[in-house]
Amino acid sequence: MDTIIKKTTDDDAISLACGILQSGGLVAFPTETVYGLGGDGLNSDSSMKIYSAKGRPSDNPLIIHIAEMTDVEKLASEISPKARTLMEAFWPGPLTVILKKRPEVPDTTTGGLDTVAIRMPSHPDAARLIKESGVLIAAPSANTSGRPSPTTAAHVIEDMNGRIDMILDGGPVGIGIESTIVDMTGDKPVILRPGFITKKDLEAVLGKVEIDKAIIEPDPNLRPKAPGMKYTHYAPSGKLTIIEDPSTDSLISDAVTERINAEVSRCINSGIKVAVLTTEDRRSLYKCENIITLGASGAGATVAARLYGALRECDDIGAEEIFSESFDRDELGFSIMNRLLKAAGHRVINI
Ligand code: TXA
Ligand code: MG
Repeated sequence: MDTIIKKTTDDDAISLACGILQSGGLVAFPTETVYGLGGDGLNSDSSMKIYSAKGRPSDNPLIIHIAEMTDVEKLASEISPKARTLMEAFWPGPLTVILKKRPEVPDTTTGGLDTVAIRMPSHPDAARLIKESGVLIAAPSANTSGRPSPTTAAHVIEDMNGRIDMILDGGPVGIGIESTIVDMTGDKPVILRPGFITKKDLEAVLGKVEIDKAIIEPDPNLRPKAPGMKYTHYAPSGKLTIIEDPSTDSLISDAVTERINAEVSRCINSGIKVAVLTTEDRRSLYKCENIITLGASGAGATVAARLYGALRECDDIGAEEIFSESFDRDELGFSIMNRLLKAAGHRVINI
């Protein structure tokens, strides 16, 4: 398949994309979190095409993207007052809400669940695409299953060129990690996937919020409530190890730097291609040819925005071993570490 690639600012780009979505085709598009791989969420065939383009197991449900508050009624059968409060507080924005689904939402879109994931993105191109097409767009992140989510159109082209009808290039995304998913179907709100909106942000609006236990520590006996959280994700091809010093608040110390430099020397001496993940201000501390930086220390949002691009760079240079500093697990740091720990297969060396 030839994939049409256009900038969202090209004259005919959005209208072309709308036509493709309306006729059941697939269009990748920018959102404020990561790029999405969109199809008609109410069309079972489109959802099947999404699973196949991503190489994704079809029991891993899709998020449906909407542009108006009234669209929720078309998808959800029960909307509690608390759920409404939540949506009004954070939409449009990087929040996905799980609600009981209406029968019109195909089982293929929800991976056979009786609930549906709904999100109203704030990215102007995404909002325009939903409004102008009139399609409620089912969209997972636009990466091949298992790879880091795409934060630039170039990442999407790497994974999806030739597999989908169109890629809309709206430049690099702002946030860089996926939306926070909150299950509103039970008595208490539960975070199923941490994201840019933190537990503290949610609690300011909802009162007590829980976190799905299965996503805090890996435990083979616990099954995450968001099916996608059970898969190995975001992983570079090389072996990633996180090195941290639990005796300091920042988790970073001279001992961490020394240990990473020692691991780098070991790799170089054995002819292993090695890379280091650190922050911009600490780059000069490492003796390694391949230093990949993630924003600035202490500035979580800049780290989030760079994380997936950095993991992809590890693949681009063919790194076989990668050593990363750690980040504190507060607030946005909790979401960043959720992704980084998964990418590392939870391989952590405590100094
Ligand atoms: O920021 C985002 O959420 C991005 C952009 C494109 O909007 N989308 C995204 O989609 O990250 P995806 O498919 O990569 O991740 C969706 C997650 C998966 O872990 C999936 O299992 C979970 O949401 N999910 C979807 N529907 C669900 C449901 N009904 N109940 C529980 N989890 C659900
Ligand atoms: Mg994804």
